[in-house]
Amino acid sequence: RIAGPCSLVIFGVTGDLARKKLMPAVYDLSNRGLLPPGFALTGFARRDWDDQDFAKVVHDAVKEHARTPFREETWAQLSEGIRFVQGSFDDDEAFERLAQTVHELDIERGTRGNHAFYLSVPPSAFPVVCRQLSRSGLSRTDEGDGAENPWRRVVVEKPFGHNLETARELNDVVSEVFEPESVFRIDHYLGKETVLNLLALRFANQMYEPIWNNHYVDHVQITMAEDIGIGGRAGYYDGIGAARDVIQNHLLQLLALTAMEEPASFAAEDLIAEKIKVLNAVTLPEDLERHTARGQYTAGWQAGAEVKGYLDEDGTDPESTTETFAAIRVDIDNRRWAGVPFYLRAGKRLGRRVTEIAVVFKSAPHLPFDSTETSELGKNAIVIRVQPDEGVTIRFGAKVPGTAMEVRDVTMDFGYGHAFTQSSPEAYERLILSVLLGEPPLFPRHEEVELSWKILDPILDVWAASGRPDPYRSGTWGPASADEMLARDGRAWRRP
Ligand code: BG6
Repeated sequence: RIAGPCSLVIFGVTGDLARKKLMPAVYDLSNRGLLPPGFALTGFARRDWDDQDFAKVVHDAVKEHARTPFREETWAQLSEGIRFVQGSFDDDEAFERLAQTVHELDIERGTRGNHAFYLSVPPSAFPVVCRQLSRSGLSRTDEGDGAENPWRRVVVEKPFGHNLETARELNDVVSEVFEPESVFRIDHYLGKETVLNLLALRFANQMYEPIWNNHYVDHVQITMAEDIGIGGRAGYYDGIGAARDVIQNHLLQLLALTAMEEPASFAAEDLIAEKIKVLNAVTLPEDLERHTARGQYTAGWQAGAEVKGYLDEDGTDPESTTETFAAIRVDIDNRRWAGVPFYLRAGKRLGRRVTEIAVVFKSAPHLPFDSTETSELGKNAIVIRVQPDEGVTIRFGAKVPGTAMEVRDVTMDFGYGHAFTQSSPEAYERLILSVLLGEPPLFPRHEEVELSWKILDPILDVWAASGRPDPYRSGTWGPASADEMLARDGRAWRRP
C-alpha cells in the first residue's frame, strides 16, 4: 500500500540513527513508489542549518546508506519537500516556526494536515518535546469534515525507560499529549523480514506446530551476537548495557513471537493480545545469580584487527560496571511450555555477528542403534536465522554412508538468497511506512513494555548488587560464567 498525503518530522536529525537508518529509509520508500508525490521531510535540530544544508545531509546519508540505487528523479521529487527548522527543544519560538512550516507544507506539498513526529532523541528529551508539540498545537488536528480526518502520530525510539517505574513515567508523558492509537513505539526487530517469517513458519504450515511444545522441545536458545563494540555510542550505552539495550525489547519480542499461541488474525489487537498473554506467563528462576550471566569485553582480536576493551573505549567510565554481554534463563508457565527453559543471550564483540532462534528438541525416546555408533548424534533443532544469511536450518540425524549403521547430524537449509529473487525492505522502511499508513501491528504496546521490564527488573537489581560483570576477551563467545550457567542445566550454548 502507498501512504496517503503526509509528512514526517524528525527530531534528532544530527544523530546516527537518523543518518544511517531514517533518512535512507525515507528515500528507499520514495524510490519504491510507496510515498505520495508531495511527501515532505522536516528536520529539527540545534545545528545552524538551512533547508539546503539539511537537504545536503540527507543526500549524503542516502548515497552512503540507502538500499536502493540512487535515482535523480526520486531525489529531485523528495528534495523539493525537505525543510529544516533550527532550534532547541526548550525554545517556544522554534516550535512556532515548526508549526508554521508544517502548515505551509499542507498547502505547498498537499500534506493535508497529516504529520508524523519521530522522536529520535534520548528519553530525557521526551517530556519537553511532547510538551512543545502540545503547546504549539502540533499534536492535535482540527476536526476534519468527517470523511478524512487529518492525523498526527508520534514515533518513539527505545529505550522506553530504564526500568518499570521510569517506563511508566515516560508513558504518562507521551499519553498526556497523544492518544494511545497515535503512539508508535519502534522495535526495529519487528520490522525484519525473518522475524515476520517466524509467524509464517509457525502459522502457515502444518508440520511445525504439532511439535512446538514441551512434549518435543527440550529448550529454546535465542541469541543476538554482535561482533562490533560500542563504537562511538558510549554516551548512550554506558550505564545502559546489553540487557536494557536489546533483551528488554528485541529478544523478549522474539521470545513472544516464538512462544505465543496462534492469534485469531494478524490485526494489532489479536497479535498483541497473544504476545501479552505469553509475556505474562514468563517466570524467572529463583536463584538469579546461578541462572544468569553478564560480562564485559576486554581487548582482543577480531577479524585480524586488535580491538580495545570496553573500559578503554572513548567515553566510557573507566570504572564502569555496564555489561556488554547478558544471558538469562526464563520459563513460561503455561501448558505448552511448562518445563522448557528459554535461554536468551546478547553481547557485543562476540565471535561473529549472528541473530538466531534455535528450538532444540528432545532426543528420540529410544535409539535402536549401538550407542558407540550414535555418539555424535545430537538433538534435532530448527534454527531460524534472523541475520545474516537469513533463512531456516533444520538439524537431524542421518546415516553415514558405509557398512556400519552410524548416524550423524546433518542440516537442511532454506536461504532467502536462494529461494527468492526480490530483496526485502530494511526494517526501518517497513516500520516508517506502517506509521504513515497508520498500521499498528508491528509496534509494541505499552503493556508489552511494562511486562518486559517486570521480567528484567529483578535480574537488573541482582546484578546491581553483585559487583563487576565477568570479563571476556573480544572475539570469544562471552564469559565462562555463561557456559557454566547452561552446564548447570546439563546443556550448552550453540556456537553458530
Ligand atoms: C539496537 C541496539 O537496537 O540494535 C544496538 O541499540 C545494536 O546496540 C542494534 O547494535 C543491532 O541491530 P541490528 O539490526 O544490526 O541487529
